[in-house]
Amino acid sequence: MKKILVPIDGSKASRKAAEQAISIAKQFGSEVKLVTVVNLPSEEKYAFFGVNVQNAFYANRKEMLKELITQESKMLKSIINTLDYADIKLDKIVLEGVAYEQILNLSKEENFDLIVMGRRGFSHIERFFIGSVTQRVISDAHCPVLVVNE
Ligand SMILES: Nc1ncnc2c1ncn2[C@@H]1O[C@H](COP(=O)(O)OP(=O)(O)O)[C@@H](O)[C@H]1O
Ligand SMILES: [Mg+2]
Repeated sequence: MKKILVPIDGSKASRKAAEQAISIAKQFGSEVKLVTVVNLPSEEKYAFFGVNVQNAFYANRKEMLKELITQESKMLKSIINTLDYADIKLDKIVLEGVAYEQILNLSKEENFDLIVMGRRGFSHIERFFIGSVTQRVISDAHCPVLVVNE
């Protein structure tokens, strides 16, 4: 249990997951990494529907993405500020792409031993369902996944 990955979307459940991960890390001497994935609608999506994307939109996309990454980094920082992580190595990273894919890739590439994540995210509609990102991570992860309710 050396390395713990915590996918954060800013939701209450994901913040509780971070707290849980830190409490485990304190007992096992693990390090913790928070990851947030940002996504912009792809150009292929518009092409599929035959919608011509304006040049200005193409140009703005890079700017939007940069801005989004900056904002998400700020969110991660403010979440970190609320955490009591004394004596723990706590890292953060913002990635771009499809959330579950990025989470799964990172967990494999950097050999994480445990993923701790929320049961629901920001699109919370029905309590009955597990979130779609959580579902994909649970079914494809190479390591154990601990799911925290909000
Ligand atoms: N973009 C994201 N980046 C990082 N983690 C995410 C992201 N989206 C969801 N998660 C993780 O997945 C959990 C459940 O969210 P999700 O599966 O998206 O549920 P919902 O369908 O309710 O939004 C969150 O608590 C968080 O841990
Ligand atoms: Mg979600």
